[in-house]
Amino acid sequence: MFVNGAAFPDFRPSGNAAVNPDLYDLENQAVDPDGILLDAMRDIAPWAGRSILDLGCGTGYWLDVYADEAAEVIGVEPDPDLCGRARSRHPDARVLAGSAEHLPLPDSSVEVVHARFAYFFPPGCDAGLAEVLRVLTPAGRLVVVDNDQRHGEFATLLAASAFAAAQGRAEVTDRWWAERAAERREVMSAWSFATRADLAAVLGMEFPATVAGSWLDRHPSATGLSYGYVLFSIGPAS
Ligand SMILES: C[S@@+](CC[C@H](N)C(=O)[O-])C[C@H]1O[C@@H](n2cnc3c(N)ncnc32)[C@H](O)[C@@H]1O
Repeated sequence: MFVNGAAFPDFRPSGNAAVNPDLYDLENQAVDPDGILLDAMRDIAPWAGRSILDLGCGTGYWLDVYADEAAEVIGVEPDPDLCGRARSRHPDARVLAGSAEHLPLPDSSVEVVHARFAYFFPPGCDAGLAEVLRVLTPAGRLVVVDNDQRHGEFATLLAASAFAAAQGRAEVTDRWWAERAAERREVMSAWSFATRADLAAVLGMEFPATVAGSWLDRHPSATGLSYGYVLFSIGPAS
């Protein structure tokens, strides 16, 4: 993917969706079985009858979900392989090569932007935030889905994993968004897998083997876990 002859400089290949997209789809299927997270996102910025951009859409898993209600669904993805995969996801979704800092969309053209575990890992996200605010309509809203690093069983796995913990230290993240007057909402939901083997496979993708193995040993019959999210939302008017 190139912008003026250069690869998107802000593209960071993902260690999960890009490495094993089928397993990442399985992870997404286990996300939020009762729709608690989705309801909170809808409450903050409804997308029924509106245009919605899924920024860093990965395999495009969530494009299908948004297409049920939205008037227009756009995915933007810098990874060429994932972009191709997302393009075959839903006939009505438009998937474009781009990145947070290089959105191939006109000013004031989208009403809702979602970024699920994509790009917004503060600090250092001002260029992407400015670009998102450029493409949002004046009353539009960005909703960023992040991990809650303090609450829920998933947070204990993050805390045990130096790699994941370093990615999104809670205080740095909260301060960065607060300084930009973003709203913050905690949501407690869950992962729920059909089988323990599926849970083990996804934990093995997301965490070092020792961290995943130790958690599984301590939860011998688990097929899921409690999962806390933090939603940060901001718009051109806020
Ligand atoms: C963990 S995956 C999440 C995918 C998708 N949002 C989901 O929840 O299924 C992170 C995604 O962000 C994409 N990404 C990496 N750098 C990016 C950037 N600078 N701007 C937008 N997306 C980016 C990756 O290619 C990957 O698809």
